[in-house]
Amino acid sequence: MTSFPPVEITVYPFECDAFGHLNHAATLSLFERARWEALAQGPGMSLFHRNGVVPAVRKATVEYRAAAFPGDVLRVETTIVHRGTTSWTLRQTARKGEDGTAIATADIVFVCVDRAGRPVALPEEIGRVLGGPARVSAGTHLSRVALEGVELSVDVRNAPGGGAILFIHGFPLDHTLWRHQLAGLQRWTRIAPDLRGVGESSASEDGYAIARYADDLIRLLDSLDVERAVLCGLSMGGYIAFDLVGRYADRVKALILCDTRPQADNEAARRGRDDMAELARTRGVDAVGEEMLPRLLAAATMNDQPEVAQQFRDMCRRIPVAGMVGALKAMRDRGDSSGLLGSIRAPTLVVVGSEDRASPPDVARQMADAIPGARLAVIPGAGHLAPLEQPLATTRAFEDFLEQVAP
Ligand code: MLT
Repeated sequence: MTSFPPVEITVYPFECDAFGHLNHAATLSLFERARWEALAQGPGMSLFHRNGVVPAVRKATVEYRAAAFPGDVLRVETTIVHRGTTSWTLRQTARKGEDGTAIATADIVFVCVDRAGRPVALPEEIGRVLGGPARVSAGTHLSRVALEGVELSVDVRNAPGGGAILFIHGFPLDHTLWRHQLAGLQRWTRIAPDLRGVGESSASEDGYAIARYADDLIRLLDSLDVERAVLCGLSMGGYIAFDLVGRYADRVKALILCDTRPQADNEAARRGRDDMAELARTRGVDAVGEEMLPRLLAAATMNDQPEVAQQFRDMCRRIPVAGMVGALKAMRDRGDSSGLLGSIRAPTLVVVGSEDRASPPDVARQMADAIPGARLAVIPGAGHLAPLEQPLATTRAFEDFLEQVAP
């Protein structure tokens, strides 16, 4: 159980009844004041606002135990007694400062809702603040899968009877890019590997290619007995998804293309890949991350969500130099997938951050226009890493699309 530091609240005269006691309705609002005070002293009052959600009270039970009077200073203790995926229960006890007499105890059940009032999984930051079971943190479902010539580290979360989604991360990232979608899309079996050369997956010195990553993923699906999956790839993950659609169309149930583009690198971009590889070799993977970061995140994300920049740095740091250089080479040498778009038969959603400068909304729009029946979702306020920067809007766009390809 997580406890917040106790806060002290003074009883005001207007909160008391004709007999001078703190009245029962005011006790509830006193508990509410104490909760906001605890937030202000801890993670900040904007905790919910900055995560785009609202804590909605669904049930409150109060046990009144003793009287309190104007001027009494009550010490309010707050503890999380239950934490689920979308809900949590707080127990608050108000005690008289001098002798610790319990005045009242409240159990309050909250549901995390989005701005439209729909229950949503607790965003990661809020989950961390509330403590308890670490259902939203990535990494708890990790296993290693030995395939031909490579071992992949994979986060697998089963939904018995549900269809499967294969999440393919971009560069220089790992499977935790999808932390919010892994927590949120619970009707689906979610499979999120670290590609070869990334995180805990094995990192050979060479042999990296987009087709190689794609073949690893097919072997991974085979090893998990998944015949067909929704492919969800971001940026480099999208390049890999194009290769999979081109060569293994019968394994693709549907396609989600995030912040990606079908075009190959031009000459200048290819030279840029070589420069980045040199930077990784000479100054390390962090230097590559710092070089890329400002271009990847929206300016508002950089200002308002420092934890997202930190998550990016953490992912980048988990990539060995050989894996990073290998990925840069694989992207440099990839072919152009523009010609493939018109032949895609799988239901497709194209997702792009409104502020994505690496694969801008215009590119996404043209790509969606070229894929028969594809839908486009523009995520306001997100840069190149929409699933991490605007997780609620991105997960909602995924859900709306997935309802059409229901498990
Ligand atoms: C990515 O996010 O995977 C990269 O930005 C892709 C690229 O550099 O082309």
